[in-house]
Amino acid sequence: MHLATSVALFALGALVNAQSNDDNALGIAAIEAHFSNADLVPSLIPSFDPSAVMTVTFPGVGAISPGQSLSKDQVAPTPQVSLVPANSSVTLQGNYTLVMADADIVGTDESVGQTRHWLVNGVTLAGTSPLNVSTSGGVAVTQYAGPAPADGSGPHRYVILLLPQPSTFSPPANLTQPNIGVSVFHLTDYITTSHLGPPVAAMYFDVQQGTATVTPPQTSPVVSSTLKPATATSSSPGSSASSSSTSSSNTAVRFGGATLALPATFFAMLVYACL
Ligand SMILES: *[C@@H]1O[C@H](CO)[C@@H](O)[C@H](O)[C@H]1NC(C)=O
Ligand SMILES: *[C@@H]1O[C@H](CO)[C@@H](O)[C@H](O)[C@H]1NC(C)=O
Ligand SMILES: *[C@@H]1O[C@H](CO)[C@@H](O)[C@H](O)[C@H]1NC(C)=O
Ligand SMILES: *[C@@H]1O[C@H](CO)[C@@H](O)[C@H](O)[C@H]1NC(C)=O
Repeated sequence: MHLATSVALFALGALVNAQSNDDNALGIAAIEAHFSNADLVPSLIPSFDPSAVMTVTFPGVGAISPGQSLSKDQVAPTPQVSLVPANSSVTLQGNYTLVMADADIVGTDESVGQTRHWLVNGVTLAGTSPLNVSTSGGVAVTQYAGPAPADGSGPHRYVILLLPQPSTFSPPANLTQPNIGVSVFHLTDYITTSHLGPPVAAMYFDVQQGTATVTPPQTSPVVSSTLKPATATSSSPGSSASSSSTSSSNTAVRFGGATLALPATFFAMLVYACL
């Protein structure tokens, strides 16, 4: 077998092992990059420092990727949501709030609020890794309502977030009862006034109907080769832009449809180990 091939396969094996050990740092880095590049951070939420990677699975579609374009029909049924913690040090327990909001097209003034498509308080997590998000024991303030953006209004970004719900949780009086229909609320005001914690995990997808009569501003794609696993020292908000270790080059590895990056030094070490 060609050396490069064996090195690549060996690296892939190491990656699979790392993933099965819940070392999901690259997944964390990727979703952070997606939220920044889609301008969900800071326009919708001021910052995003997740401790788990969220998987959203629609019946008939499967697990979606961040920003995936889906049709109204594909997102009509309620999705399943699960989490893979960043690593074995992350403990996720207690009550959470699950929310889905329409952040509209890129460039939208989010201060005017978002359409609330799903809001469940008292959500719990079942299992270990992945952890299933269970809504059955919670209060479904707004039942899942599949997106139906206006014809021609462009690709709307639908964001699903899971937020820790402390014992001091106090939702606004008009959002405490079950079965309140879809309406506009203000996501970050809701998070703040309810005393919810920052999102532990989030995901988003796009839905568009008809031909857009508006052109959203261009966003940058996530360049996986520049991703760096979040570490204890580099995960603080705002530190990524000024990261001092940007000079080391990364090598992209295509794995299960998602492009992941491994530092070139890692490959160099593997080559060395093979000789
Ligand atoms: C979760 O919510 C339930 C129902 O409100 C409550 O009884 C329970 O104490 C909460 N658990 C935690 C860990 O806060
Ligand atoms: C999580 O959900 C999946 C899909 O419904 C199911 O197969 C699995 O048994 C669930 N795991 C737990 C721990 O509830
Ligand atoms: C709840 O009250 C807020 C503030 O008074 C208001 O802006 C919002 O429209 C109300 N929401 C619902 C669902 O009635
Ligand atoms: C585990 O993941 C969290 C969230 O990304 C991170 O803050 C922490 O530094 C990680 N811990 C270890 C031991 O890697």
